[in-house]
Amino acid sequence: MLLKCAAVLGSPSPFAQCVVFGWCLSSRELWAASQGPCVLCSDHYLLSGQLDMEGALTARDRVGIQDFVLLDETTEAAFLTNLKKRFSKDLIYTYVGTLIVSVNPYKELDIYNKKQMDTYMGVNFFELPPHIYALADNAYHTMLTEFNNHFILISGESGAGKTEASKKILQYYAVSCPSTTLLNTVRDKMLMSNPVLEAFGNAKTLKNDNSSRFGKYMDIQFNSEGDAVGGHILNYLLEKSRVVHQNHGERNFHIFYQLVEGGADDLLRQLGLERDVQHYNYLTQVCGECAIVSSINDRNDWKTVKNALQVINFDEINTNHLFGIVASVLHLGNIQFDSDSKGHLSMFEIQLWCCLTVKVLTPFTIDHAIYARDALAKAIYGQTFTWLVNRINESMENKDPSRKTVIGLLDIYGFEVFYVNSFEQFCINYCNEKLQQLFIQLTLKAEQDEYEAENIEWEPVQFFNNKIICDLVEEKHRGIISILDEECLRPGDATDLTFLERLEDKMGNHPHFVTHKLADKMTRKTLERGDFRLLHYAGEVTYCVVGFLDKNNDLLYRNIKDVATHFKSSLLKLTEILMAKEAWYIRCLKSNESKQPGQFDEALIRHQVKYLGLMEHLRVRRAGFAYRRKFDVFLKRYKPLCPATWPHWRGEPADGVEVLVQHLGYLPHEYKMGRTKIFIRHPRTLYATEDAYEKCKHELATRLQAKYKGYRAKGEFKKQKEAATKIETCWRGVQARKEKEKRAWAVKVIKKFIKGYMTRGQAKTTDNSEYLAFVRQSYLNRLKEKLPKTVLDKTTWLTPPVVLQETSEILRKLHYRLMVRKYVRGITPQKKAQLQLKATASSIFKGQKDSYPQSVAQPFVDTRISEQEVNMRVLQMIRNEHIKYSVPVIKYDRNGFKPRPRQLILTQTAAYVIEEAKIKQRVLYTSLKGISVSNLTDDIIVFHITCEDPKQKGDLVMQCNHLFEFLTKLSVIIEIQAGKESAVDFTTGQEPMVYKAKNGHLMVVS
Ligand SMILES: Nc1ncnc2c1ncn2[C@@H]1O[C@H](COP(=O)(O)OP(=O)(O)OP(=O)(O)O)[C@@H](O)[C@H]1O
Ligand SMILES: [Mg+2]
Repeated sequence: MLLKCAAVLGSPSPFAQCVVFGWCLSSRELWAASQGPCVLCSDHYLLSGQLDMEGALTARDRVGIQDFVLLDETTEAAFLTNLKKRFSKDLIYTYVGTLIVSVNPYKELDIYNKKQMDTYMGVNFFELPPHIYALADNAYHTMLTEFNNHFILISGESGAGKTEASKKILQYYAVSCPSTTLLNTVRDKMLMSNPVLEAFGNAKTLKNDNSSRFGKYMDIQFNSEGDAVGGHILNYLLEKSRVVHQNHGERNFHIFYQLVEGGADDLLRQLGLERDVQHYNYLTQVCGECAIVSSINDRNDWKTVKNALQVINFDEINTNHLFGIVASVLHLGNIQFDSDSKGHLSMFEIQLWCCLTVKVLTPFTIDHAIYARDALAKAIYGQTFTWLVNRINESMENKDPSRKTVIGLLDIYGFEVFYVNSFEQFCINYCNEKLQQLFIQLTLKAEQDEYEAENIEWEPVQFFNNKIICDLVEEKHRGIISILDEECLRPGDATDLTFLERLEDKMGNHPHFVTHKLADKMTRKTLERGDFRLLHYAGEVTYCVVGFLDKNNDLLYRNIKDVATHFKSSLLKLTEILMAKEAWYIRCLKSNESKQPGQFDEALIRHQVKYLGLMEHLRVRRAGFAYRRKFDVFLKRYKPLCPATWPHWRGEPADGVEVLVQHLGYLPHEYKMGRTKIFIRHPRTLYATEDAYEKCKHELATRLQAKYKGYRAKGEFKKQKEAATKIETCWRGVQARKEKEKRAWAVKVIKKFIKGYMTRGQAKTTDNSEYLAFVRQSYLNRLKEKLPKTVLDKTTWLTPPVVLQETSEILRKLHYRLMVRKYVRGITPQKKAQLQLKATASSIFKGQKDSYPQSVAQPFVDTRISEQEVNMRVLQMIRNEHIKYSVPVIKYDRNGFKPRPRQLILTQTAAYVIEEAKIKQRVLYTSLKGISVSNLTDDIIVFHITCEDPKQKGDLVMQCNHLFEFLTKLSVIIEIQAGKESAVDFTTGQEPMVYKAKNGHLMVVS
């Protein structure tokens, strides 16, 4: 079906596109769609929610019941409750068997798209939730398979959605029937007839802004392949009075406003029209502002109509004539009359071309003139409408003589009951009586036929047959219409009231006819004197006879036929047409008077349910058997309920059904077996079965689900296991190959290592080169960790392998040099001076005195006595000499060797022996012959002083704890002073002695 749709969309004709849009748009939107890209593209069809594929029966518990036939009790209350429940969930369609009850939602529902159409295409009627497409599809397929004619009767009161429903059906056929370019043209015409007929035949009323003011029957003709190849329209009872008069809040036919608002300036000039609806009496008679309605766009609609006229083959001349006639009606409405002084009538028209005034003398009164003017206007318009329908028919006509089947769409008023009901309501209600009669005949006939075909005994059905009312209206010579005609034609003073009297005479005791005179006391209170009441099948309607005669008299055609009779005969013709066809019904209900979405006006709907005869219909439907299904369909659905039929029944379906119902315990009076169908009398029997099926379905579903899940899981597990084994095998292979490579490598390495080891002493060869490199690297790495930490550590150098002996030696030297450099760089000037002193001490005492080695570790200090500890007076006395060093000593008396503690201070020039504030002795270095120490461990120092100096007292014998320090300092002072390298030389000799050598040095021999 998608392909089909695409073909339409892809058609090179721009109009073909318009058609596609057109099917889904209202006629007013058509033109806009054909003008260019449209917001509602083909996706409009494709976007849709998922349809519930549950059968109608299974879904019954969810939102009410989808088929009223299965309602437990057939009361009006139960009917309304179900309708309301469904309406509240936007489920506007409900079945009564194959009849559809549709409630106007007054809002766009997303249920008319391409996806929905596809879903319903070719699907059994009861398999999906109720939808207008299901009915359209079923009619279509029955027509194709049985090759017979059908009609769809769409009825309901004004604004209930009849015209919308007929458009939806046309739309469905347009999209779902096979298509070719040629066929598309026919469809375009059928479609485009809608906006034209709506413009001329629809008007805004209080009940509906686009109310059809005529009855319409449209045949769609199909060839044997199911292609829509032609169409034909019959129109009924156009409300011509609207041309000259509209009720408050209503408008004239759309076309007048469209022409005045939308017509090109040239056209208006040509037609002598002003672009102002206020200018025309027929358009603004009642209230000027009603001409403008927000929900109607006259300008756009005008374009649509112009466009549509082209599609249905109206050439320019015809089109201009058509609009000329429309304009002439407007001009006619502006004609006014006046009487002159002699009582004759003069006529003039306001603002006719160039304000022309024409005078005509007639013997009539003004009222007569107005009456005649309006009659003329109505007649012109009525004839034009008929002519228009004929032209449309010509354009849609299929001239191919081959046999065709048709589906007729009948969009006609439903029962009308107003506060005051007149001739029009009488005709309309009569029409509905006839259609109800038709329904009864067709339904009962169909029931009877089916029972006969299925070989089931016919049981009479209790219902009200409205034939008696039809006869009351239409019977020859005795019916209301006949009496009306007689009254219209009879000479003398016939009036509406004389007509009523004649009715009373003739119908006096008819059970469905009452007037004020005939009624009993109670009823009389509800009737006016000029009223008569008919008890229609759908309820009582009181008609006011005022105007009956006038309306029935078509002044201009008096010699031809009276209106009611004309209507009667056209209805008869329609009945004949319909009787020859299979009927499908759509009953439209208006949800509320205020055209609001979501409002369910219960009283209003109850009223419509009654007047549409829905309860009657339901009763007829349920009179025999509530439910019937073909054996195979029934068996297919319910076979899981019986072990003998589940999962497969191998025999005849009828036997299977018999086994199944026996198993379910159906009682003999609850069902009947036909030839091809099972008939179930009560809904409750079916419900019980359906409930069991529902339960069983869940169990079955669970079992199937479990089995399937198990099967899936097993499969999955097997697959996973195989995959795991495969992966494992591959992985192990990879690992094993790696291991093998590793081992081969290891063997090679070990071999090489051993060979290398064995030839390690030899010159470098390919065999040992790697080993030697390893040995080298390994030695160097180990050496790096075990390098000697100090310069003094000469022992820890790692023994090198043979190949590295030379390198090792070089490294060793480098390392020691580096350590020495580091050491030297780390020495401070103070430390350097200290070391120099120590070096001096070493050069003097090393190996000379036993106590020297112990002294090496003790650092030298600058002085052992600070200047603060030296007496001030002494400091005063030697202030000219710079003190170099001071140390406490014990001086031994030369006589008796008595020890005396003294301070010994060394200056630049002399050594002072100090006792408190006294300088006990000053030994000039120049007087110092020598200094003696023993080679033992004592601390005795002897200063040998020259005897030439009379101030000196002789040699000085002292003991000093810091002997080495003291003497080293002294030797440095003397050296500095002497400016010589060394002033004291020590030497070993047999006899220790101290003397001044020839080089001027002090010679210490020990
Ligand atoms: N199925 C629907 N979905 C949405 N809106 C709808 C539907 N049916 C009808 N309507 C609304 O109701 C309005 C009246 O519908 P429609 O013209 O078909 O009524 P009608 O029964 O033909 O009335 P009349 O007898 O006056 O011609 C439409 O213009 C539209 O707004
Ligand atoms: Mg309509």
